[in-house]
Amino acid sequence: MVLPKILLTRTMPPETQKLIENAQDIELIHWKDGAIPRDQLLKLVPGVSGILCMLTEKIDSEVLDVAGPNLKVVSTFSVGYDHVDLNELRKRKILFGYTPNVLTDATAELTALLVLAASRRMREGICAVENGEWNKWGPLWMLGTQLTNKTVGIVGLGRIGAATAHRLKPFLGANGKIIYTANSDKQAATELGATRVKFDMLIREADVICICCSLNNQTREMFDYDVFKVMKKNVILVNTARGPIIQQDDLVRALSEGLLGSVGLDVTTPEPLDPDHPLLKFSNVTVIPHLGSATLETRTTMGNLAVENVLSGVRGQPLPSPLEL
Ligand code: DGY
Repeated sequence: MVLPKILLTRTMPPETQKLIENAQDIELIHWKDGAIPRDQLLKLVPGVSGILCMLTEKIDSEVLDVAGPNLKVVSTFSVGYDHVDLNELRKRKILFGYTPNVLTDATAELTALLVLAASRRMREGICAVENGEWNKWGPLWMLGTQLTNKTVGIVGLGRIGAATAHRLKPFLGANGKIIYTANSDKQAATELGATRVKFDMLIREADVICICCSLNNQTREMFDYDVFKVMKKNVILVNTARGPIIQQDDLVRALSEGLLGSVGLDVTTPEPLDPDHPLLKFSNVTVIPHLGSATLETRTTMGNLAVENVLSGVRGQPLPSPLEL
């Protein structure tokens, strides 16, 4: 009997890997050597019934054409799906699964960490210690910004935005405020006592701005020089969503003109960022390598859901976590 093929583009956490390897009713094609190069993806995809991909693979019309008519389901090991051409999937009636909810806590935790690290100059402090620049304690040395009484602006109060706001709220004290724009989860907004404002107002009023929205045509390069120009001078800007939401050359320009207080980025354009990139020269910029969901618990849960999605699709069953196209 010919078994349906599933292409898995990466090695997943051990428990998840076992789950897919133990499935007896499929043939697994497993790319094991890091991120799959495009030419290998195109070589391995013909005839598959399911693809389990990562956010590093572009799933576009070319991949779908080469895959051919057997393809029933694409499952991504991510909540973001800007790497997948959903219109093409819809046209071809291919199911799509993704992994929302299960990474909300880990990503919100990391967003809060970047806010705190940026506001208290964590990277500069660590560098000073390591570079022998730690002199005797000084009342004016390495002063950061305190979150008490500040206004936090969340761009995209969806699952991750709301969970981030919940984590930051206790730092703001009784006189702090949470404002938000776009993608609102109304119940979360009420629980948080958060106020909806227009984007123009959020960028002017917020002391801390967290970018938590998804990348799409409306949000691509939403943060450009004109936006940076009107932000508060000491603003703390954190992006844990997707790099291209920020116009990165404009960010470099704004930083070199001293327009921003401190920046924390878990996502950049491109990824990985060249170690010589100008962004890394600014001491008030902390860049980490897309670690939002990077805990073993979360990656295992994401992986299990992604496996269930792809297996269900191939078996002709409803996906446990579909995106309706
Ligand atoms: C996602 O899932 O989209 C995150 O960016 C990576 O975990």
